[in-house]
Amino acid sequence: MSTSVKLTYNDKTYDFPLVKGSEDEYGIDIKQLRAQTGLITLDPGYKNTGSCQSEITFLNGEEGVLRYRGYSIEDLAENASFIEVAYLLIFGELPSKKTLQSLEQKIHDDSYVDEDLKSILKSFPKSAHPMGVLSSLTSGLIAFNPSSVDVNSEQEMFEAIIMLLAKFPILCAWTHRKVKGLPLNYANTSLSYIQNVAHMMFKKPHQDYTSNPIVINALNKLLILHADHEQNCSTSTVRIVGSSHAGLFASISAGISALWGPLHGGANQAVIEMLEAIKADGGDTAKYMEKAKDKNDPFRLMGFGHRVYKNFDPRAKIIKKAADEVLNDLGIHDPILDIAKGLEQQALSDPYFVDRKLYPNVDFYSGIIYRAMGIPTEMFTVMFALGRLPGWIAQWREMRLQNEPIGRPRQIYTGATQRTIQK
Ligand code: ACO
Repeated sequence: MSTSVKLTYNDKTYDFPLVKGSEDEYGIDIKQLRAQTGLITLDPGYKNTGSCQSEITFLNGEEGVLRYRGYSIEDLAENASFIEVAYLLIFGELPSKKTLQSLEQKIHDDSYVDEDLKSILKSFPKSAHPMGVLSSLTSGLIAFNPSSVDVNSEQEMFEAIIMLLAKFPILCAWTHRKVKGLPLNYANTSLSYIQNVAHMMFKKPHQDYTSNPIVINALNKLLILHADHEQNCSTSTVRIVGSSHAGLFASISAGISALWGPLHGGANQAVIEMLEAIKADGGDTAKYMEKAKDKNDPFRLMGFGHRVYKNFDPRAKIIKKAADEVLNDLGIHDPILDIAKGLEQQALSDPYFVDRKLYPNVDFYSGIIYRAMGIPTEMFTVMFALGRLPGWIAQWREMRLQNEPIGRPRQIYTGATQRTIQK
């Protein structure tokens, strides 16, 4: 087995070492490429570029495998709570009972934000997109908690992480309450992390709120499934912003903006809008399949395809089952679920989708559950951000502890060569 790769250029041969991962993945270490050859690599969209070595998440897109710190996503979704998974992602091991109790207590203790944040929220129009609001509020947290984290101090790092895990659900819930015109509230310390998310989002001022265990279970699963996905667009954003030594909250705020786009986290909103449009147009799924295949039509089947999964998205299977459970339990017959299942069935046997290995991704069914829970469509990506928070934190922490250099890609310049102003 080779341990290096040879590159021949201008009659000279250069040797670049191979790096092997713990799941037998190989990469070429090209750190010395430019220094030795004067060349750079060109890889728009980074389809072939590894930006780091990471111990957090393993995914094998060909076989539909996703594991956090070695545990399969199926195992975690079935047997762990979101906060246990958050601890696992960030610190590397599942927490013991005692650690979990102390973690939950610390989160409860930090579950408040400065009241002045309310005036920032108030200044947004009600029509503002919740992702923009969430990103701004997260940046706003920096102003109210200005001390920068000394990454060499485990204690300071831990405290900053707890603060974010505690305060972020409040910001997410408040963006929802803003959309709904509900008064702003805080967590109830007798409830679990996920119960509190539901409580803070849905509690009406004039009524008690008791959460439905099936809904809480589905929410727990959804957030676990979204918790990390190695070097995706928003996570890479968090790492690259953090690599300039911008703080944790600033890096997360940038990640929220990256997640917003419809080709990334915004796809869950786009899926529901697409399904609604198909329903309004008579529910003709075959027509939309043809549109998706037509290269002259910009329409894409939202919720289908993935940069990495070229077999199936293991998260989509779990979510599809959870969607059925929630809808059955709540006694909801949602016609757009039938449209979604019809599209999936047709796509799975259509050569266009089969040949390009396009399968439903995590976002194809998640919006249907959120809708059944009464969450407005434009809030779906906020729910994704809430789930992704532990992954962003874990990746930021790993990047800072690895002391990675500042992220700064190069380019091949194709513009005008030197010229002067002609007077
Ligand atoms: N509908 C129709 N055709 C598609 C779709 C789709 N959803 N996705 C990919 N294709 C086609 C492309 O047109 C292309 O066809 P071609 O080879 O004939 O040119 C081929 O499949 C490969 O597509 P790329 O865009 O090159 O694949 P890439 O890996 O760059 O993109 C992406 C992946 C962005 C997810 C893409 O599949 C897509 O736009 N899907 C819809 C949006 C979506 O659901 N995003 C959520 C992703 S999951 C997440 O971020 C949590």
